[in-house]
Amino acid sequence: MSKTILITGSTDGIGLLTAKTLATMGHNVLLHGRSKEKLELAAKEVGGNTETYAADLSRMDQVHALATAVREQHDQLDVVINNAGVLKVSPTQTPDGYDVRFMVNTFAPYVLTRALLPSFTEKSRIVNLSSAAQAPVDLDVLHGRKQVDDLAAYSQSKLAITIWSQELASELSDGPVVIAVNPGSFLASKMVKEGFGMAGNDLQIGADVLRDAAIGDAFADASGRYFDNDQGAFAQPHAAALDSKHRSDVMQAIDAVVAQLN
Ligand SMILES: NC(=O)c1ccc[n+]([C@@H]2O[C@H](COP(=O)([O-])OP(=O)(O)OC[C@H]3O[C@@H](n4cnc5c(N)ncnc54)[C@H](OP(=O)(O)O)[C@@H]3O)[C@@H](O)[C@H]2O)c1
Repeated sequence: MSKTILITGSTDGIGLLTAKTLATMGHNVLLHGRSKEKLELAAKEVGGNTETYAADLSRMDQVHALATAVREQHDQLDVVINNAGVLKVSPTQTPDGYDVRFMVNTFAPYVLTRALLPSFTEKSRIVNLSSAAQAPVDLDVLHGRKQVDDLAAYSQSKLAITIWSQELASELSDGPVVIAVNPGSFLASKMVKEGFGMAGNDLQIGADVLRDAAIGDAFADASGRYFDNDQGAFAQPHAAALDSKHRSDVMQAIDAVVAQLN
């Protein structure tokens, strides 16, 4: 049966290829991006009657507007793939004084997902893009009080999304399913070219695992779990994501920041 699937950051890289993969299977894919021009190109590439939603996820007002726009069009969502992400950015701080990596990779998907909760069924899936690059969160970095290099900010933001995925899964014990996924390391996207100066591995590796996480049977009962596509298996995330004190500190900090930004 055709499913309705929102993919953030589907104008490039893994998100665009996942959109093409799922649309080819007959699913109704809602494309999201920050650039209207890139959204038009992506819609042409994906084909069919694809809907597009423009929102800059480094701006909290636009995150809310995105959730409202999607809810106006759809009573029910089967899947959201929180794929949009950044590693190298300039400037590195938002006008509100937060690190853009935390804003786009951690806070925006948290707020978007919570705003979309009424649209999900018990069987819906929330698929969150984590990474092999995870590092313990320095709360001063999360709060925008301290700046660190690109990879450190990125890795911390990815641990933080891994933590909130686990915590949201515990909160929503009857569903929807919440899963964190490392799509595979050094896949050939612009993020990897810009960040590491390398061509990278076949992007389809990432698109295939996101397809499975979105609609595959193996992920239907996997709420709260972390899938590491470098291993091709469910695995433990970074030890800091399993440390109850760190989890609780990070969750409190995320809730404080999003309350401030709302
Ligand atoms: N590639 C890898 O090896 C790898 C490994 C582990 C995890 N990941 C994760 O996979 C996800 C996809 O990354 P990718 O490698 O495919 O990177 P990418 O090609 O750079 O794609 C990132 C997507 O996010 C969008 N985006 C970035 N900033 C945004 C903002 N402020 N507002 C709205 N959309 C925004 C981009 O829009 P534009 O098209 O306008 O730039 C693009 O559509 C990310 O979460 C990344 O951290 C990737």
